[in-house]
Amino acid sequence: MSEFIINGGNPLKGTVTASSAKNAAVALVIAIILCDEPCILENLPDISDIRKCLEILEQMGAKIERLKGPNLSVQIDATKVKTVHVPGKTARSMRASSYFLGALLGRFHEAFVPMPGGCLLGDRPIDQHLKAFSALGAENRLLTDDNGNETMHIYMQNENSDLLGNRIYFDFQTVGGTINAILAAVKAEGQTIIENAAKEPHVVDVANMLIQMGAKIVGAGTDTIKITGVDKLNGVTYTPIPDQIEIGTFMVATAATGGDVTISNVIPKHLEAITARLRNAGVNVVENEDDSIRVWVDKPITATNLKTAPHPGFPTDMQPQFSTLLAVAEGTSIVKDEIFDNRFEYTHEIVKTGADIVVKDKAATIVGTDKLKGAEMVATDLRAGAAMVIAGLVAEGTSVVKSIKYIDRGYEGFEKKLRSLGADIERVECPDNDNAEEESCDFE
Ligand code: EPU
Repeated sequence: MSEFIINGGNPLKGTVTASSAKNAAVALVIAIILCDEPCILENLPDISDIRKCLEILEQMGAKIERLKGPNLSVQIDATKVKTVHVPGKTARSMRASSYFLGALLGRFHEAFVPMPGGCLLGDRPIDQHLKAFSALGAENRLLTDDNGNETMHIYMQNENSDLLGNRIYFDFQTVGGTINAILAAVKAEGQTIIENAAKEPHVVDVANMLIQMGAKIVGAGTDTIKITGVDKLNGVTYTPIPDQIEIGTFMVATAATGGDVTISNVIPKHLEAITARLRNAGVNVVENEDDSIRVWVDKPITATNLKTAPHPGFPTDMQPQFSTLLAVAEGTSIVKDEIFDNRFEYTHEIVKTGADIVVKDKAATIVGTDKLKGAEMVATDLRAGAAMVIAGLVAEGTSVVKSIKYIDRGYEGFEKKLRSLGADIERVECPDNDNAEEESCDFE
C-alpha cells in the first residue's frame, strides 16, 4: 500500500487554504437524494470518502456531472434514483453510508443499506438512528447473507403510509443519529422535535442546506431541533463549511514543529475548543478579520490536560493529533477520550518515536520528551494517521507512515499542503496493492 516517507525537523511556515469539511460533505452529498430538482455542490473535498459517496449515488441511478474548475464541484440529479437498495462493498467500507438510511427513508419510505462490520474505533452501534426512524413510524430488521454481511432494512409496515412527525429523544448526543433523524423527518407529515441533538457544525451545515432547499428546520446547533415536514425540496447550489478538523490538524502540526502558519478559509467560531487548548499549551493563535487564522510558537509547549466532548467541547477527531503535540511538551498531560472505545490504538505506533504515552481506561498519561526519533508507523484510522504524520514531521531522521489510505479518506492533498509549508514528505505509491486497499474496512 502507499506510504509517506517523512524527513522530520522542518518547522512548518507559510499559508495554506483549508478544504471543505469531510463530515459535512459526506452527509450533504447523500442528502441530495431528498431533493426534487438537480443541485450543485461546490468545492467538495477531493478525498476518497466523497468519491465513494458519489460513486454509490451514481450506481443507484443519480446523474452526476463534474463541473469545470480547479475544485471538485458537481451537479447531482438524484431525481433519477429509483432504487432503495444501496450497493454493497463500497457502502460497507464507510460509516457515513448510514446516511442513506435517513435519506432513502425520507424519500421512498424504505431503504436497504449494507452495514459496516467490526470497527477499529470500537463498537459503533446505530441503535439511536433506529430509535429515531421508529419514532417516525418505520420498522427495521437486519438481514444477513451467507458470508455474514449485514444489511439494514428500514420500511413502513403498511407500505402506503407516510412517515409521521414525532418527538425523538436521543439518549446521548450522536452526530450520525441527529443527521439521520433530520434527513428522515424533513418530508414527514407534521412536526418532529429532536431532543438532545448533536450540535456539531456539520449537523448545522446539513440543516442549512436543507433549509435553502425549502425544508422547515429551526434550532440546528442547539439541543432541540424542530422540523415541520414539507412535500417538495427545490434545487440549490451549496458549498460545505471549512473542515475544522483539517484546520485543527494544521494548527497542531504548526505548533509541534515550532512553525508559523496562516490558514485561510476558516470559521474561527468552529475552532474555539482547539484554539483554547493550544493557547493553554503556550501556542500563539490569532484570528484575522479575513477568515484566516495564524498559529506560531515562540516558547516551549507546556503540558495541558484534555478531555474530549461533543461540540462545543474538544473534538475526539483532534485527540490523536493533540496528544502527539503533548508528547513534545514540557511536563505531564492527562488526555481522556471516552467517545469511542479504541481511540488510543494509535499510541502503540507513536511510542515507536520515543514518545512516552501510557494508556489506561480511556485515558492517556503523556510525559513530554525533548525530541522524537524517526520510526515506521502504521495508520490505524484517519486521525491516527494524521497524528503519525505529525510525529514524523517532528522526529529527527526519517519516518515511514504506512496504510495512508486512511489519511486519503479525509485530508485533501495532505502531503502537497504540508510540502507547500516546507515539510519534507513524499508519497510512495505501491499500485500492486490497490485491490487490497478497496477490500479493507474503513470506519470514519
Ligand atoms: N453511538 C451509539 N449508538 C448510536 C450512535 C452512536 O452507541 O446509534 C455511539 C458511538 O458508538 C460513539 C458515540 O455514540 O461512541 C458518538 O457517535 P456519533 O454518532 O456522534 O458519531 P458518528 O456519527 O458515528 C461522527 C464522525 C466521526 C466523529 C464522531 C464524533 C462522520 C461521518 N463521522 O461519527 O468522525 O468522530 O461523529 O464527533 O461525521 C473522523 O472524521 O475521523 C470521524 C471518526
